[in-house]
Amino acid sequence: MIFYFSGTGNSRFVAETLGKTLSETVLSVNDLIRDTARAAGGEYVSETPFVFVSPTYAWRIPHVMETFIRENAFSGCRDAYFLMTCGDSIGAAARYLQTLCKEKGLHFRGVQKIVMPENYIAMFSAPEMNEAEKIIANAVPGLLTAAETVRAGKDFPSQKIGALDRLYSGAVNTVFYKWFVSAKGFYATDACIGCGLCVKNCPFHNIKLQNGKPVWGADCTHCMACICHCPKEAIEYKKKSQGQPRYTAEKVLKK
Ligand SMILES: Cc1cc2nc3c(=O)[nH]c(=O)nc-3n(C[C@H](O)[C@H](O)[C@H](O)COP(=O)(O)O)c2cc1C
Ligand code: SF4
Ligand code: SF4
Repeated sequence: MIFYFSGTGNSRFVAETLGKTLSETVLSVNDLIRDTARAAGGEYVSETPFVFVSPTYAWRIPHVMETFIRENAFSGCRDAYFLMTCGDSIGAAARYLQTLCKEKGLHFRGVQKIVMPENYIAMFSAPEMNEAEKIIANAVPGLLTAAETVRAGKDFPSQKIGALDRLYSGAVNTVFYKWFVSAKGFYATDACIGCGLCVKNCPFHNIKLQNGKPVWGADCTHCMACICHCPKEAIEYKKKSQGQPRYTAEKVLKK
């Protein structure tokens, strides 16, 4: 059974590719939390391994994914595999996933990083379409190898974790969530047509339309779904997103 959380489609693409390759059920954590107020207290039963696919947020899995795993029960098979899509590095994420699995009574079978296009336009630059297309094409062989590893019931290869990785996934992750993850910088420009897609796309119900324009509440995980999926590119985040491409995997894969 495969679960994914995704803001801009990279992790969804990875989860769906795995699902097709392994003929496994694929469940969207975005939909589960949107429909059932954070989806706590559920029980998921699978005779095959649990596979969790997510983006990397500050060198760890996103809080939303960690909370989902912590607050739900997983029974049947005890094996848990993790795939983290990222722009570059997952740091020491493996250490935290090991602890999480221990807490849940799951058997940690490893974490595989899958380099995909960077989506964090509130902080960095996203690639243009052609470059993003190449990055996705380069990711596919590693992804298929990961699928075969799961099918064979083997562990993902372990990766070396250095002191900097520990710093990034530890103290820097804490500072990042405390000081940077906030919806305060989002605003809609005059290009907004009031279509409401940003409201629908927010997994946290954090956006409402007021007088035909979106306003953001306080519950945000910086997934970039609202800003990157807006059909009019009418959302900005402070000055940082101005002039930047709005990356989504769907746009690139449709091309
Ligand atoms: C809030 C946030 C934090 C991020 N932190 C990292 C990071 O620590 N390391 C990294 O390589 N990429 C980082 N990224 C990039 C994403 O992990 C990457 O683009 C991912 O594939 C996006 O997946 P999605 O399209 O499924 O949302 C970050 C992106 C966001 C939005
Ligand atoms: S998705 Fe874009 S155009 Fe549609 S309501 Fe939101 S900001 Fe406006
Ligand atoms: S407000 Fe935007 S960035 Fe924040 S959680 Fe909702 S969709 Fe994601």
